[in-house]
Amino acid sequence: MPKPKVLISRRWPAGVEAKLLSLYDVTLNPEDQPLDADAFRGAMQTYDAICPSVCDTLGSDILNAANRRCKIIANFGVGYNHIDIDAARANGLVVTNTPGVLTEATADIAMTLLLMSARRGAEGDRLVRSGLWSGWCPTQMMSSDVTGATLGLIGFGRIAQAMARKAHHGFGMKILYVKPTPADPEVVDDLHAERCASIEELLPRCDYVSLHCPGGNQTRHLMNAERLRQMKPTAHLINTARGDVVDSRALIDALTEKRIAGAGLDVYENEPHLDPGFLKLDNVTLLPHLGSATISTRTAMGEKVLRNLQAFFAGAEPPDRVV
Ligand code: DGY
Repeated sequence: MPKPKVLISRRWPAGVEAKLLSLYDVTLNPEDQPLDADAFRGAMQTYDAICPSVCDTLGSDILNAANRRCKIIANFGVGYNHIDIDAARANGLVVTNTPGVLTEATADIAMTLLLMSARRGAEGDRLVRSGLWSGWCPTQMMSSDVTGATLGLIGFGRIAQAMARKAHHGFGMKILYVKPTPADPEVVDDLHAERCASIEELLPRCDYVSLHCPGGNQTRHLMNAERLRQMKPTAHLINTARGDVVDSRALIDALTEKRIAGAGLDVYENEPHLDPGFLKLDNVTLLPHLGSATISTRTAMGEKVLRNLQAFFAGAEPPDRVV
């Protein structure tokens, strides 16, 4: 029997690519640049499986393709708001993702951004590199404390809980969260976490607010101008979730007018074309979507895609099936 044909939209760590190549008839993307919609439409007719990632938008225009050969979209990543799930379901396509393996790495980046924003890390780095640093000074670049401060988490899934553990056990932070249903009592006990009834109740109480909800229509601009106004003027906003959860223009205004102290961002609306307004601001720390970017995490993500494909092609239920 011929091997299933599999398209990987971007290059992966070499070890996991090699495993995939040994099992399937795999096409790699030698340029390692995002493929366009036409390429994906063609791929729907040529491949049994497509393995996209967060930089690939798979809308209904692609998933409804005529003469479709593709049966499974095995996403390399946990978030799948770039895939039109309703269109996938309507076309009988299986969609899988990679939950669990990128939790700690992403929570580490959220803490990195929190610390950098609080302690003005990126600004300090720029000062030293500029050659203008004139030496230690008692009042230079004073910043905000992290230890003992209050962290509010909007969304309280795996990544938020991992961040809360690091913040509470490592930095003695008080943890508040918002989630539609109460969290596991063991987690709540361990973190002494307090559930707020609404985002409006949480925001004015926090020194740091970190976003952990999926992107897409339901959470688009959840942090809008009005909610940014509810944050303390000394507070910092951290986003490692999806760019569209925050209204970028409203955030730029809030940072420019110093209505909040700072922000740490790993994700943006319309990546990688972030609003140039951010580049002019000193009180925002900008990272290039690094949440899961450790060698072991990216390898584990590839391994998860592989297990999903293996189960699917063996006629079994893929372990991380979304639809
Ligand atoms: C994800 O997995 O959703 C990340 O954003 C990309 O690693």
